[in-house]
Amino acid sequence: MILSEKNINSSPHLPFGDQRTAPWYGKSILSVKQFSKQDLKYIFEVAHEMREMVERVGTFDLLKGKILANLFYEPSTRTASSFTAAMERLGGSVIPINEVKYSSVAKGESLPDTVRSLECYSDVIVLRHPEVGASALAAQYARKPIINAGDGIGEHPTQALLDLFTIIEEKGQVDGLTVTLLGDLKYGRTVHSLSRLLSLYNIRLNFISPEILTMPREIIGELDQKGIPSQELRMLEEIIPETDVLYVTRVQKERFEDTKEYEKVKGTYIITPETLSVAKKDMIVMHPLPRVGEISMDLDVDPRAAYFRQMEYGMYVRMALLAMVLGKA
Ligand code: NCD
Repeated sequence: MILSEKNINSSPHLPFGDQRTAPWYGKSILSVKQFSKQDLKYIFEVAHEMREMVERVGTFDLLKGKILANLFYEPSTRTASSFTAAMERLGGSVIPINEVKYSSVAKGESLPDTVRSLECYSDVIVLRHPEVGASALAAQYARKPIINAGDGIGEHPTQALLDLFTIIEEKGQVDGLTVTLLGDLKYGRTVHSLSRLLSLYNIRLNFISPEILTMPREIIGELDQKGIPSQELRMLEEIIPETDVLYVTRVQKERFEDTKEYEKVKGTYIITPETLSVAKKDMIVMHPLPRVGEISMDLDVDPRAAYFRQMEYGMYVRMALLAMVLGKA
């Protein structure tokens, strides 16, 4: 047992494990490449216990007195607020810097300086930034853990962890599943991280995208090397009956240099109740959100629509990660 109501109530100021031996204590979370299958099992065990604790007691003092700096150079609704909720559910508090234009960044301050300033006031920094590798750069300068909340078109490791946790909680296991990723596979960072994480399991992957938005060759190469069966397609219809998890993404408008190119591909796929008429009865539809038309709202009442449940799983995973890097799990 990693957490229990009893030890939380009896020793509210003591760490649960020995901080010095907690394996993730002080570590940054920059890429899913850091995680082994064993690590994932551990993270999901902690996340599962966080879920049970939230359901039983709501908020508890595991991270009382700890401070998180939420540093966002790009817009966010779910990631920023779920990290805030996660920290507050664990009794900690948050410095929100959601609008860097009101911070010293607008005066031209560099990322290393901003991070080195914020760590004077906080114990962990969650960073979203438009440039690939920004979190890794920040981590080179910071003494406190950096959590990558999206680095441009690079990675979004905490989203991939919550996506995988959703699959496990909803489908019971990952091995043996056919996962279809659909939409903007070129610029969508969540699908980059998720494909890499899924490659640790025995699965089949289908990649469906417009021709100009295919999965980066680098990631296809990594999957091939690991012997993961995958195929790239343009149409969803033929593949939907065999799909267990359909992961839909938005075309990332902000990454296009030419808006006309975006306009050409933005409405390529629209998932409706009719699309699902030939799907398995226990298939799940996921989406990192926000959606901008690629899943019709008529689908929301279908129990297979898992995207709002997925958001809730995200808070438990982020609670687990915060507890881990702060040495309490
Ligand atoms: C995603 C992102 O920021 O990459 N959103 C999220 O974190 N839930 C997906 C997106 O913006 O399309």
